[in-house]
Amino acid sequence: MCGIVGYVGRQQARDIILHGLKELEYRGYDSAGMAVADKEGTYVRKAVGRVENLAEAVNREQPEGTCAIGHTRWATHGGATENNCHPHQSGRVTLIHNGIIENYKELAGILANEGRTPVSETDSEILAMFLDARYDGDPIKTMRECLPEVEGSYAICVLFADHPDEIYIARLGSPLIYGTTSDGAYVASDIVAILAYTDTYSVLPEGAVARLRTDEVRVITFNGRNIKPPVETVSWNVESAKKDGYEYYMLKEIHEEYDALQATLRPRIIHALPDFSADNVEDEFFKQVDRIVISACGTALHAGMVGSHLLEQLLRIETRVEIASEFRYGNPILDERTLLIVISQSGETADTLAALRLANERGAKTLAIVNVKGSAIAREAQRVLYTHAGPEIAVASTKAYAVQMGLIYLIALRFGLVTCRLDEPTVAHQITRLMETVDLIPDILAREKEIEAVAKELIHEEHLFFIGRGIDYALSLEGSLKLKEISYIHSEAYAAGELKHGTISLISEGMPVIAICSQDRLIPKMISNIREVESRGAKVIFITNEDYTGDEGKSQWRINIPKTDAFYTAIPVSIILQLIAYYVSYHKGLDVDHPRNLAKSVTVE
Ligand code: G6P
Repeated sequence: MCGIVGYVGRQQARDIILHGLKELEYRGYDSAGMAVADKEGTYVRKAVGRVENLAEAVNREQPEGTCAIGHTRWATHGGATENNCHPHQSGRVTLIHNGIIENYKELAGILANEGRTPVSETDSEILAMFLDARYDGDPIKTMRECLPEVEGSYAICVLFADHPDEIYIARLGSPLIYGTTSDGAYVASDIVAILAYTDTYSVLPEGAVARLRTDEVRVITFNGRNIKPPVETVSWNVESAKKDGYEYYMLKEIHEEYDALQATLRPRIIHALPDFSADNVEDEFFKQVDRIVISACGTALHAGMVGSHLLEQLLRIETRVEIASEFRYGNPILDERTLLIVISQSGETADTLAALRLANERGAKTLAIVNVKGSAIAREAQRVLYTHAGPEIAVASTKAYAVQMGLIYLIALRFGLVTCRLDEPTVAHQITRLMETVDLIPDILAREKEIEAVAKELIHEEHLFFIGRGIDYALSLEGSLKLKEISYIHSEAYAAGELKHGTISLISEGMPVIAICSQDRLIPKMISNIREVESRGAKVIFITNEDYTGDEGKSQWRINIPKTDAFYTAIPVSIILQLIAYYVSYHKGLDVDHPRNLAKSVTVE
């Protein structure tokens, strides 16, 4: 959802900005732009499309300067045109923005009365105009006065023409971090953009403005107090954000699932039992909870669905899974006996954050499962459990999904233990089964070629179905989402038994149906559903347990799942589905890591 990066220091800035933008492309790639400040004036270059288009122009023009800002855009207000591209300029102000200015029309009205008209269709340009209109030569004063009048969300970097060696930054709702080295000061939406230069950073607090100079960063609150935000250190190195010989990040990240699960789960298993004392999630927190609500978006939502099966079936606690963008408008039932679990890789998804805020307001207990340290969701939840997936760069989420599921399993088991819904031997047994399943991952990856061969058969398809029951239905939703988002093949995920109530009319000769059958007790029912679609011409890809030797209809292909406990089959099955989606996209010759129209972090509602 737009990536921003800035640098002021002793080095030429343009390559630092281009490098940062490349790393931030996962946040949007509709257009990219850069401004380099100099005493002679401010150089601005914009290009529609990927960062490489901008790089081509910048490398040709070689702008000189040691203070610069750059932006990669995921369009919200106004199409992906050069005109709407950031940076936006107004008088002495040059600005890049991530977020949405909700009262931009009101601000535009005020500016129109002052005779100012925008040239783009963006909300961001209005903010540049507003700052310029109020600018009196003192950037900090201007920002402190203007920004409290701005509603919505923003992370901004601003250059003032008469301060060519300084970058001014502020944020509300959208992420922004900064770091310093002996070479200068850096600012970015995400540490990956500047990790090549520094592994320490500070999160810019909301309600403050920072001035970045080569040798100094000054942070001052809107009401004039100087503050020193804490310095954080990233726990992974620059190598983990590299492709490591893989053609696409997505495949690399699928291959990292074993390590990510180990890193997330192992430190929290003490004497064979789940333990969150090092995370400061005390047992008391889980007590007096009558119901659980899980809320999230996209892939994280699907991880919640998988987790809810364990919670309800093993613990017998009522658990609802709610789409975060719907949740807050449905006047949900939330009280002090409700535990809301929000799940988010980025920790900045606007809808998930809104669900969390609502639950906090209504007195529910809130717990976040988040991958990015210090993110908004992590800060606002009453308790947070971090997943340790490391940086996930591909837009399609894979390893983050695996660790989210792993962590919900642990939460469910700890919850079961402390509320006496499960006894110690049962929990210890479940933990063993869970970790045995994680150990099966290399086995699945060893079948990659076989899965690729099946995927290759699908590349010319236009429509496809996923069917499953129970956990396998939750997995179907994720398998279908993954395939759609990166291969552009239309697919639907259906509860296998529901298909016959209407949708089966879409099944036609030769249509592929991916049938997920990992639950032994449900296989006979699934076989009936497979027969129903086969008799209407479907060709079935049968994904089932390797020890299943019964009827499989006339399935065209079979992919085996190594034998594991029914509760944890989601781990191997999801890898099979991720590999199918990956290889379909790859063999269609698509840019797997950058599917069209998408962004990895969605900070707008
Ligand atoms: C976007 C991404 C999805 C992701 C969802 C939620 O739509 O493309 O892959 O699952 O946001 O993101 P979060 O960071 O909250 O997990």
